[in-house]
Amino acid sequence: MHRLRLLALSVLAAYPLVSAVSSQSYTWDNVKIGGGGGFIPGIVFNPSEKGLAYARADIGGAYRLNSDDTWTPLLDFADNSRWNYWGVDALATDPVDTSNVYLATGMYTNSWDPNNGQILISKDKGDTWTVSELSFKIGGNMPGRGMGERLAIDPNDNSILFFGARSGHGLWKSTNSAVTWTQVASFPSVGTYVPDPTDTTGYNSDIIGISWVTFDSTSGSTGKATPRIFVGVANMGSNNVFVSEDAGSTWTAVPGQNNTYIPHKGVLSPAENTLYVSYSNGAGPYDGTLGIVQKYDIATSTWTDITPVSGSDLYFGFGGLSVDLQKPGTVMVAALNSWWPDGQIFRSTDSGATWSPLWEWISYPTLAKYYTYSDSLAPWLGTDSVDLTLGDLQIGWMMESLSIDPFDSDHFLYGTGATIYGSHDLTQWDSEHLITLESLADGIEETSVQNIVAPPTGPLLLSVVGDIEGFEHTSLTTPPTQEFQNPEWATAIDIDYAGNTPTDIVRIGNNAGSTLQQVAVSTDSGNSWNIDYGAALNVTGGKVAYSASADTVLWSSSTNGVLVSQYTNAFTAVSSLPSGSIIASDKRNNAVFYAASGANFYVSTDTGHTFAVTSTLSSSTAPAKIVVHPNVTGDVWVSTDKGLFHSTNNGTTFTTVSGVTEVWAFALGAPATSGGYPSLYAAANIGGTIGYFRTDDQGTNWVQINDATHGFGSITSNPITADLRVYGRVFIGTNGRGIFYGVPAGAAPPPTSTVASTSTTSSVSSISKTTTTTTTISSTTSSHSTTTSTTSSSSPTSTSTSGAYGQCGGSGWTGPTVCVAGYTCVEQNTCECNISPFHRDKDSGACINKG
Ligand SMILES: *[C@@H]1O[C@H](CO)[C@@H](O)[C@H](O)[C@H]1NC(C)=O
Ligand SMILES: *[C@@H]1O[C@H](CO)[C@@H](O)[C@H](O)[C@H]1NC(C)=O
Ligand SMILES: *[C@@H]1O[C@H](CO)[C@@H](O)[C@H](O)[C@H]1NC(C)=O
Ligand SMILES: *[C@@H]1O[C@H](CO)[C@@H](O)[C@H](O)[C@H]1NC(C)=O
Repeated sequence: MHRLRLLALSVLAAYPLVSAVSSQSYTWDNVKIGGGGGFIPGIVFNPSEKGLAYARADIGGAYRLNSDDTWTPLLDFADNSRWNYWGVDALATDPVDTSNVYLATGMYTNSWDPNNGQILISKDKGDTWTVSELSFKIGGNMPGRGMGERLAIDPNDNSILFFGARSGHGLWKSTNSAVTWTQVASFPSVGTYVPDPTDTTGYNSDIIGISWVTFDSTSGSTGKATPRIFVGVANMGSNNVFVSEDAGSTWTAVPGQNNTYIPHKGVLSPAENTLYVSYSNGAGPYDGTLGIVQKYDIATSTWTDITPVSGSDLYFGFGGLSVDLQKPGTVMVAALNSWWPDGQIFRSTDSGATWSPLWEWISYPTLAKYYTYSDSLAPWLGTDSVDLTLGDLQIGWMMESLSIDPFDSDHFLYGTGATIYGSHDLTQWDSEHLITLESLADGIEETSVQNIVAPPTGPLLLSVVGDIEGFEHTSLTTPPTQEFQNPEWATAIDIDYAGNTPTDIVRIGNNAGSTLQQVAVSTDSGNSWNIDYGAALNVTGGKVAYSASADTVLWSSSTNGVLVSQYTNAFTAVSSLPSGSIIASDKRNNAVFYAASGANFYVSTDTGHTFAVTSTLSSSTAPAKIVVHPNVTGDVWVSTDKGLFHSTNNGTTFTTVSGVTEVWAFALGAPATSGGYPSLYAAANIGGTIGYFRTDDQGTNWVQINDATHGFGSITSNPITADLRVYGRVFIGTNGRGIFYGVPAGAAPPPTSTVASTSTTSSVSSISKTTTTTTTISSTTSSHSTTTSTTSSSSPTSTSTSGAYGQCGGSGWTGPTVCVAGYTCVEQNTCECNISPFHRDKDSGACINKG
């Protein structure tokens, strides 16, 4: 198995050298939702290679454009230790060697992300990456993430890059193709603007910082550092556009600038010797009620205001900005944000002297639309008409990225809060003033998946996802025609089906302060819904379970504790369960529900009205999921922070699956053999390896089913469900890369252990930690309350050492298992620096002993 050369993040605990875990090759693909499903803060075309373009997402990595308008994801290898790689705050594609692409990654600058940021470096257009660790954080999902690009490559000497940091860390420079970085001490402003200084979480109170870096390619000559560089800074009311004339040694504020608002984009039109700048009175992406557009004539050092609209027509800021390199003087700029009646884009063919809009009022309520609309690649986008009373947005919102193809004047793309739109007949704007606007985000799957369930009959999958509700998935390869609707909440957070009547489903929402109840039920697998008026307003979030015959909803809300409602009567408190309990319904017996909180396991036999503790789950403090056998009442699995527990007697006693340290998500799927016990799937730490696993014998033998190219990001937030009809097929929801499904691609390795599960009865007070087996290639004997585990790791056939970031173990690995000095073999079987006392020196990039 090819091992990507990647540094792991240094802040996570040092992992012990783990024994090898059996693995089975799986084929992974996205369950197609299509059209993206989230915010696209950046789209960047390479100016030198026709057709080469990239898009970046705020929580879902980066993508490369293909010639057929589809996109290829580039950061799917990011696993739990590298989850913050999916927050991409800036992107640069090399105009000299077009194979090079760089990403500035990191999710949050506040405590939500403990990791520093990094620059990811690719020499092959994003197929493989190396990593340069930074000494500060990057905020790919922070306010101002649509400004940019903050990362830029010198077009005359491509070993030089500049990066504009957040949080007051200023401007940084690399002279060795991003391997090492030093701060540009002479740069005069680290930024002052913060969206909300009173935000105690640190999310809105952090300095936005440097917002873009733009080289004046015309000012230098090939092979020498470009002398003139413009830099925009998120300042409002003080100097915010700076220039260097000596390749970044000294800087001055560009004279005559209007710094009333924050500069979001600085785009050079080389043929015009002009810098175009869009401004908004907020950092974006949600805000913006005023803004301007300016151009700066470099030769004459004069600014001209070219704001497309004024007066009462100006009620938004400006974001996405682009020039047509084939047609000097053609400029486009997007409104940030025109929330009503729709988003807006302006185009000029005379360098901003005059503009035409994408739509305009004829007279209320009639709009003249200068586009036709197609969402055929993502029909659920579905805003096929702009309903002025509902304020439907068809063109979009959060339009911070807009790019005209530098080789094709008919092709442009722009990102919205939900997709990428664009056109292939853009010049018709100038001839007929009519373009074809279409969703061009095929291959981008960037939803934040809240939960997924695979019912035993009916649709293959049901999902609830952030921002766009969720879907009934009748196909894995064609996008759904509609999202869940009526009601629509901003985010649907959980979903369940009734075991005996699986077309009956319930979902709950997470909209605080909504005027809609946050519970809805469907009798047709989610095609249509009814609000459950038994729910009180302002009760939101949490987990939901539907009784087996669909007459009772149990709701562990995030605001009002655990509630129950039968026959859509008003929800009442379930006083016998602690707030925050995890819950599940029996899939056969309508009267039976299960719950867990702390180490306590609870059962109700009166349709969720009262619960009693039946057992304890060892020393668990955080139960994650209760999964019930779809066919057998009382056959229950519980995953917790202390492992995996199984009961076959209604939760009276549990056995512990040995070797499973912690389980986040868990699912049961179709059995390997007809009539056999269901296969089990776990997002877990098994034998020291954090990953995704399957067992066909209730935990005796596990195989790891994810691989080096499928990491699925942060494991703690990823739901799993398994197909009850097709053996081996499993679904993994991610936070930012949509839903994946995997099917076995290779044969399962032969079982290496055949120990029977030994179950012992135990009382509530002293549940026995009965061992079923260890997990991996080991041969284990298990006996009552004792584990005798002999874990044999694969013996290396080589005694040499592995180099920096080289492989040092893993399934089937026969190479060195020892790392060169300064490096330690850690998680993913890689030689990493940063294991105390060694640290990666931030200036030299070397792995040195700091004592
Ligand atoms: C800068 O722009 C603002 C907003 O349009 C305007 O009110 C102000 O007069 C401008 N300042 C100058 C010096 O042009
Ligand atoms: C729900 O919350 C909103 C906003 O806080 C409040 O105005 C409203 O009165 C609340 N409704 C109920 C029924 O509590
Ligand atoms: C589990 O509970 C159900 C319903 O109360 C009952 O029918 C069943 O016999 C119980 N099973 C076991 C093994 O105790
Ligand atoms: C449940 O029972 C049905 C009918 O016997 C069977 O086809 C199916 O495989 C069972 N499901 C599981 C997950 O064992």
